[in-house]
Amino acid sequence: MAMAIVVVGLASQYSEILGLQNLGIKGKRKKKKPVRVYMDGCFDMMHYGHANALRQARALGDELVVGVVSDEEIKINKGPPVMSMDERVAMVRAVKWVDEVIEAVPYEITEEFMNKLFKEYKIDYIIHGDDPCILPDGSDAYAHAKKAGRYKQIKRTEGVSSTDIVGRMLLCVRDRAVSESPVHASLHQQFSHGHSTSHDKGSLNAAGVGTRFSHFLPTSRRIVQFSNQKGPGPEARIVYVDGAFDLFHAGHVETLKAARQFGDFLLVGIHTDLTVSGHRGANHPIMHLHERSLSVLACRYVDEVIIGAPWQVTKDMITTFNISVVVHGTCAEPNESKNGESDPYAAAKEMGIFKILESPLNMTTSTIIQRILTNHEAYKKRNEKKVESENKYYQSKTYVNGD
Ligand SMILES: *[C@@H]1O[C@H](CO)[C@@H](O)[C@H](O)[C@H]1NC(C)=O
Ligand SMILES: *[C@@H]1O[C@H](CO)[C@@H](O)[C@H](O)[C@H]1NC(C)=O
Ligand SMILES: *[C@@H]1O[C@H](CO)[C@@H](O)[C@H](O)[C@H]1NC(C)=O
Repeated sequence: MAMAIVVVGLASQYSEILGLQNLGIKGKRKKKKPVRVYMDGCFDMMHYGHANALRQARALGDELVVGVVSDEEIKINKGPPVMSMDERVAMVRAVKWVDEVIEAVPYEITEEFMNKLFKEYKIDYIIHGDDPCILPDGSDAYAHAKKAGRYKQIKRTEGVSSTDIVGRMLLCVRDRAVSESPVHASLHQQFSHGHSTSHDKGSLNAAGVGTRFSHFLPTSRRIVQFSNQKGPGPEARIVYVDGAFDLFHAGHVETLKAARQFGDFLLVGIHTDLTVSGHRGANHPIMHLHERSLSVLACRYVDEVIIGAPWQVTKDMITTFNISVVVHGTCAEPNESKNGESDPYAAAKEMGIFKILESPLNMTTSTIIQRILTNHEAYKKRNEKKVESENKYYQSKTYVNGD
């Protein structure tokens, strides 16, 4: 009697195991499990190079999970970040290729954290760019993932780096500040890649204005990669917002998110370099028109951009694009409007389609530049090493394919 019970018990245990296995096989056949890829980073002063890395990572799977390194860990490994974790997380969440974010991840992917990624977050592959990520002790931050055979690599994006952007910011304040402040002079030396001397005005673009030392070469393919490639639906309410969107930051993201809620399709007008320098001074913008366009295009709230929008929002423009509402944020750069210039939104106001948007965040491009100057000693240290390795990279580089 007792034996019979044992046999029955065993049989049901076996069938349970077999049943589970069957389910597993069936489940696989019915619907392919999405491939989940993971990428981490500091994402400090996020730029279109970061966005492009996330785009490439997402293309290696079906769902992209992004880990944002904590402030403390960045401080230990690289020096203090310019943007707080909340600001960095907001920027990463706003990128249209990102599906999930894990906040405050460690700088190094330890074996323990890696297993957590695999088990808890169901990650299949860990992705990183082809630039080496070396820990303070000289070891490779991705060694564990490589050993586990769960590592995939993407190409770094040409033409931009945070080091380069900080350098451009310092140049932008240099002209008026360098003579009176030795701090700015030494900072400028640190950040300028050795590309310039104090007499060098940098490479001016065709218009003779704006940004310097950019290695960025805009291609039509890159713009297509970033584009949604979809127009508005037949009944769509089209919202228009314009601006410089220089050093694309959390304040911009919040404004775009709020603007999108006025309709179904958000069209963003990006002012030309000439327009921006005309209103903000000859050393602005810090990022080129095409760089600014890519940053805005990567934002999930944006449907389309006008690459080089006019300052005046004309009636013709409103008709051409069938714009239902023109939105303008309250938190603009100081000194944005020139004396005697007519109101760029006069036509929209006359048509009764102009809306003022209370900017949710009090952040401007100047806020960021100010942070860099305030914390200059720390950034100086942080960039010494970085500039060196960047220079090395540019000296030894070869063909880079644009995918
Ligand atoms: C223009 O936009 C309105 C919504 O504001 C929409 O109803 C209309 O169909 C659009 N016109 C065209 C020609 O798409
Ligand atoms: C605004 O800009 C003009 C020149 O573009 C300059 O002369 C003036 O001092 C600026 N005003 C402020 C408050 O910065
Ligand atoms: C925004 O910034 C301005 C100027 O820096 C300041 O006067 C104002 O109090 C700030 N507002 C908020 C809500 O922080």
